[in-house]
Amino acid sequence: MKVFEVNITIKVVDFFKQNLKKNDLIKVNQLLKEFCGISEFFDNQNEISELIKILNIEQNIISEPDRAEYGDFQTPKNLSDLTCKLLQTKNINPQIVIEPTCGKGNFILSVLEHFPQIEKIFGIEIYPKYVWETKFSILNYFIINSQKQKPEILIINKNIFDFDFQEISKQHKEKNILVIGNPPWVTNSKLSSLNSLNLPQKSNFKNHNGFDAITGKGNFDIAEYIALMILNNFSNHNGHFAFLQKNSVTKNIVFDQLKNKYSIANIEKYNFDAKKEFSVATDASLFYCKLNQKHSTICNEYDLYEPTKLKYQLGWFKDKFVANLTSYSELHEFDGICPNVWRQGIKHDCSKIMELEKINGQNINKYVNQNNEQFEIENDLVYCILKSSDLKTGIINQSRKYTIVTQTKIGENTDFIETDLPKTYQYLNSKIEFFNNRKSSIYNNKPKFSIFGVGDYSFKKYKVAISGFYKSTEFSLLLPNNDKSIQLDDTCYFIGFDKLVYAVYTYIILNHKITQEFLNSIIFFDSKRPITKDILMRIDLLKIADKIQFTGVSEFYESKLKQLDISINEQGWIEFKKSLKNRPKINEIDLFSTIYENEMS
Ligand SMILES: C[S@@+](CC[C@H](N)C(=O)[O-])C[C@H]1O[C@@H](n2cnc3c(N)ncnc32)[C@H](O)[C@@H]1O
Repeated sequence: MKVFEVNITIKVVDFFKQNLKKNDLIKVNQLLKEFCGISEFFDNQNEISELIKILNIEQNIISEPDRAEYGDFQTPKNLSDLTCKLLQTKNINPQIVIEPTCGKGNFILSVLEHFPQIEKIFGIEIYPKYVWETKFSILNYFIINSQKQKPEILIINKNIFDFDFQEISKQHKEKNILVIGNPPWVTNSKLSSLNSLNLPQKSNFKNHNGFDAITGKGNFDIAEYIALMILNNFSNHNGHFAFLQKNSVTKNIVFDQLKNKYSIANIEKYNFDAKKEFSVATDASLFYCKLNQKHSTICNEYDLYEPTKLKYQLGWFKDKFVANLTSYSELHEFDGICPNVWRQGIKHDCSKIMELEKINGQNINKYVNQNNEQFEIENDLVYCILKSSDLKTGIINQSRKYTIVTQTKIGENTDFIETDLPKTYQYLNSKIEFFNNRKSSIYNNKPKFSIFGVGDYSFKKYKVAISGFYKSTEFSLLLPNNDKSIQLDDTCYFIGFDKLVYAVYTYIILNHKITQEFLNSIIFFDSKRPITKDILMRIDLLKIADKIQFTGVSEFYESKLKQLDISINEQGWIEFKKSLKNRPKINEIDLFSTIYENEMS
């Protein structure tokens, strides 16, 4: 039956029917504490009276409110049990357990079952219904297991962001602590889109500057904030910390260890299937570490369902943060600065209007847009464009889609379109509201029909390109279509070349085993956008080229690129390598993480 909006078992109903004959608050709470360890089970007399009333009547089913802003994904009992079983193998014996956002209480039930020495448990939860559900479940547990030792248990209905962990920290300095749980799965930007106030007051806790806030670097997971609250309060206590969280949160914690230097070590992550456990399409794992240790900046990666087999080690190798320390330690000499600046493709945020297809593939200037509207425009500004999903094959010289490239550099005046290209102007201007309604602030006060990610480099005839979103590090070689360079959208990265032979050499180096293994050692494939400009700029093409004999280059050419019918010779290879000695200027490197890249991440 439902009590205080939660399901309670027949055993709990019977328990209350037998024991709530007297309704004195102090006595009832005393009885419950003796029976199941929970302190102050009821906050006030009214709650007892209400329960007595409810137990005599059948309850209607109450519909669930939308809990998106609370990142509410309750841990299935088998997963909280699996977590505790794993912790048992580490011979941990907690005296104090803290579950910072305990929900319906499955972690609390699991620790009760797995760790008999616990003296005190703190569970904090914002949702009163879950507070009741946790209390009733614990009561049910001790009705069934009346012989078990009962720790003192506090289930506190409070907002975690107002909760003072310092008090617990001070009171239990000498005790062995276990902080365990599964904090909310929601980001601050999602919360702001929901106009939610379920945020910490200090939302810029990573001290990002104003620019980062605009570009999206200020976006963070609430779980990360809560994990850092725990580390700030308990990293110097003896004990352990175990949270189910997104892999990106774990990665950030390990990344920030270089500067934060929390006293944690034995950092581990145990990947689990978030789709199966929570019906969430994200990469997630159990984050574990030992508290009060010499600080570590390395995390061992395992599979939660097969936890003895070490998969990788991620973390810091000197001043570099990498995904696979073992292979990186053999390849780190190739981590440098790419002599060619990687560029991101065109961003227009107007796909309905700017993503075009040719009608019936005819070789005339008739197009259809994403709104299924057909129109004819001049050819001048129309270019083939590739999206991430098009970058699968080696050599590409055509496309499914087309776009209108309205500028040759960012901020360029677009008045010429009206005078020189009347049909193009008429089409674009008839859709002006789509351009004006673009949300991103980068378009504010810019010329009509402005786009981003455009410059001299966009019009280079030959390109080597890669998608930022795929789990593959294979590069494609783009050739011009009808003498016009092929464009890429902003999910892709490329280097542009005037000479085909230089594009070919670069393509061969990038697809060489050394580069592929190097990239696989530094890329975190569980990120939303695993391949970024920052990553690509780390490829030291010259150092890798120096490891490749010309015979290797010509073999690759003969087996994969022969159709290009160009002349490849050792002298040309040597000259190409000489050209790689020019490093990009330092200010270009500073600008690698562009506004639009971060907006997409
Ligand atoms: C991902 S669920 C996990 C619940 C529980 N830890 C478990 O493992 O099943 C996150 C929980 O955090 C709670 N929560 C969200 N925001 C909170 C806040 N500001 N303070 C306390 N609890 C909060 C939600 O109501 C939800 O029960």
